[in-house]
Amino acid sequence: MAAPRTAQILVASNRGPVSYALGEDGSISAKRGGGGLVSGLSAIGPDAGAVWVCSALGDGDREAARRAGSGHLDAADTGGQQVRMLDIAPDVFAAAYNGVANSVLWFVHHLLYQTPVEPVFDAESAAQWAAFETYNTAFADALAQEAAEGAVVLVQDYHLALVPGLLRDRRPDLRIGHFSHTPWAPPDYYRLLPDDVAEAVLRGILGGDRAAFLTERWATAFADCCAAVLGAEIVRDGGGTATAVRFEGRETRLGVHGLGADAEFLRERSRAADVDERLSTLRAQIGPGRKTIVRVDRTELSKNIVRGLLAYRRLLEIHPEWRERVVHVAFAYPSRQDLAVYRDYTARVQAVADEINAEFGTEGWQPVALHVKDDFARSLAAYRLADVALVNPIRDGMNLVAKEVPVVSERGCALVLSREAGAYAELGEDALVVNPYDVEGTAAALHEALRMDDAERADRTGRLAAAATALPPQQWFLAQLRALEA
Ligand code: G6P
Repeated sequence: MAAPRTAQILVASNRGPVSYALGEDGSISAKRGGGGLVSGLSAIGPDAGAVWVCSALGDGDREAARRAGSGHLDAADTGGQQVRMLDIAPDVFAAAYNGVANSVLWFVHHLLYQTPVEPVFDAESAAQWAAFETYNTAFADALAQEAAEGAVVLVQDYHLALVPGLLRDRRPDLRIGHFSHTPWAPPDYYRLLPDDVAEAVLRGILGGDRAAFLTERWATAFADCCAAVLGAEIVRDGGGTATAVRFEGRETRLGVHGLGADAEFLRERSRAADVDERLSTLRAQIGPGRKTIVRVDRTELSKNIVRGLLAYRRLLEIHPEWRERVVHVAFAYPSRQDLAVYRDYTARVQAVADEINAEFGTEGWQPVALHVKDDFARSLAAYRLADVALVNPIRDGMNLVAKEVPVVSERGCALVLSREAGAYAELGEDALVVNPYDVEGTAAALHEALRMDDAERADRTGRLAAAATALPPQQWFLAQLRALEA
């Protein structure tokens, strides 16, 4: 069904702001999602004429999209936001999302192809790539239908890397931006991709007027890939920083917007009754007088959870004085469980936590408290009581946990931070910085963090919180809009 071309602002992302659960009786219930984009879009309010185009992810979503006819969801489910959920054929979605976005593009940008996860590009991947093109085309078609003349379109992430180019072909009048929430791979690594894929992804993003990233480092890597793979020309400012890419007669501007934590929302949400309740439960579990090392992650290979646990084990080995005096509260929420490599990783995280508890645990002390059930209120409770936060990803676009903890922390929290997280660019000075592969070094940083005196921890936390909230989601979103409109 042809939709009216009235939207002035459009957002496109794989995962939308709402998801639906399908009940056994066929009923559907909506759950609103969180995250930077949702709060960012709230800056312009439901009356701004914005439409968010996303994909149905599961059966509940598909049912909701079907019932909505043209895919426009019931505004009661979306907080008034106009959302069009695309009912993409399940096999196309699975191949595009699991096969290409999460198994190929995610892996290449996070440098996760290492033995035993090797890149495989065979006949099946070629079919998956075709599905990825179909999936991106569905988004481009929907956006082209929805957008008013001269509208602004903000396309999000690697799932939709082809959309800017496809949309430009359909609607040259639009102003199109792409935002990458992931890191970008350096050229030599990026070239692990088959040549046609490597080129198509870059050409897709260069179809937009602007390509934006979370840090300078990822923007530079993208420009370097454009030069190395496409032979594109890089435009630089006086200081040598890449500011645009010229290719086939067009220019795509580069931008950096370091998404920050939403201080107002976090401070209020973390004082709610359900968080207090979880705080008491966690306190009882940890035991009186003990220090707490907290981590909160999706169970994701790039998050480096296993090495984090090994570093904690090493800490207990080389500093036996911490035994019985510290608990590692590790939240590892299941993610992408359709992929075997994620299931294996989840099992490995559990196994290593169990090993540490078996090796060091005593009657009254369980060294690792691993929680796998996703519960935002409990994550906030843990932020409140953390003495140390461990954020040690192998590579991460930004890492918002590193930014949220200092805001919510009650008594000051020392941050052990990987230099490979995007957040390092803004928080590096007041964090204890680690090489994520260096288990021994991470153990040493944990020790230092636990020993940090209260005054220093409070000082550092104050500065971390200020840096972490410099660009809250609403401003981050508006900054992208303005830059595209300029
Ligand atoms: C990363 C991506 C996001 C994605 C998130 C969760 O942060 O950049 O686009 O929403 O992972 O991944 P999922 O596959 O569960 O959507």
